[in-house]
Amino acid sequence: MPLFLRNAWYVAAWDHEVTRELRAVRIIGDSIVLYRTEAGEPVALEDACPHRKLPLSMGRIAGDEVECGYHGMVFDRAGSCTRIPGVKRVPPSVCVRAYPTVSLYGLVWIWMGDPAHARAEKIVGVDHWTDPAWGRNQGGSMTVDCNYLYVTDNLLDPSHVAWVHRTSFGNEDRVDEPVQTEVSASGVVAARWLHDVEVAPFYAPLVAFAGRCDRLQHYEVRFPSHAIIRALFVPAGSGGHGRPIHEKALMMDSYNFITPIDADHSRYFWFQMRNFSAGDQQISKIMDDAVRDAFAEDRVILNAVHRGFANQATPNIDLAIDRAPLQFRRALNGLIATERAVA
Ligand SMILES: [Fe+2]
Repeated sequence: MPLFLRNAWYVAAWDHEVTRELRAVRIIGDSIVLYRTEAGEPVALEDACPHRKLPLSMGRIAGDEVECGYHGMVFDRAGSCTRIPGVKRVPPSVCVRAYPTVSLYGLVWIWMGDPAHARAEKIVGVDHWTDPAWGRNQGGSMTVDCNYLYVTDNLLDPSHVAWVHRTSFGNEDRVDEPVQTEVSASGVVAARWLHDVEVAPFYAPLVAFAGRCDRLQHYEVRFPSHAIIRALFVPAGSGGHGRPIHEKALMMDSYNFITPIDADHSRYFWFQMRNFSAGDQQISKIMDDAVRDAFAEDRVILNAVHRGFANQATPNIDLAIDRAPLQFRRALNGLIATERAVA
């Protein structure tokens, strides 16, 4: 069973992580070397010299090219070999694979499939990115020792916040409220309104109204593995499907981009957009720190779930809350199977 969708954009690194130093990363099982040209453009090449397979990341940058650290073979940003010391004419077939890259939202995105199909406009859109009324929490990244599908399960599961994040995102108010799911060509949405609940601890000091709230939990994962978690808090009694958004609404859109490293490890990149305190760096910092702590709670669970399934001795069961995660897995499997059939 193929594990990963190849014709897709993934996040390779934060922009600031791609520099004039060679950086080795693994993405859906491929070893890749990242660096930046003198003009500042990100480059991603297969991290293996075709001669003796030494990682190019163990060599050095020469202008816009990479020189292998074993015998000095040189490759340009398109992956073509431009020099083999001791060889007069470089055969044109000598090359490494080059991956299309795009800088967007402070991140370097990489296209892992057929370069002919790489179109930057297919990268996940971030609403309010340039909206002066919205602020941004800078975000971060972490490595999780689990298969990426356990992360997408988690990001399509609004119920877990009541148990995993009881000091931040969640509380036990209305945990029985059913989740509505929707499958589309771009991914799966799991959502529910919680009416007349207490504002969860993370949001309580941030909301612009007093008392209880109506809360929308919108959990969405787009193919291959990019989550948009929208939180909406309005005064109790004013929220609900199709109703206009209250003027004192607190909105936070959390963008979570999951890059599979291999079948057992994933890299998790995130930042949030918020509809209040746009330029307030202190609020950004407070929220960033709280989110980092909450995601560390997820990491503990996800690492252990991966080990739990790896060492599974008895059957596991699925619950109603697993509907969206299972729909997502099924749809993604379909896309991967189609991609394989075409290839
Ligand atoms: Fe979580």
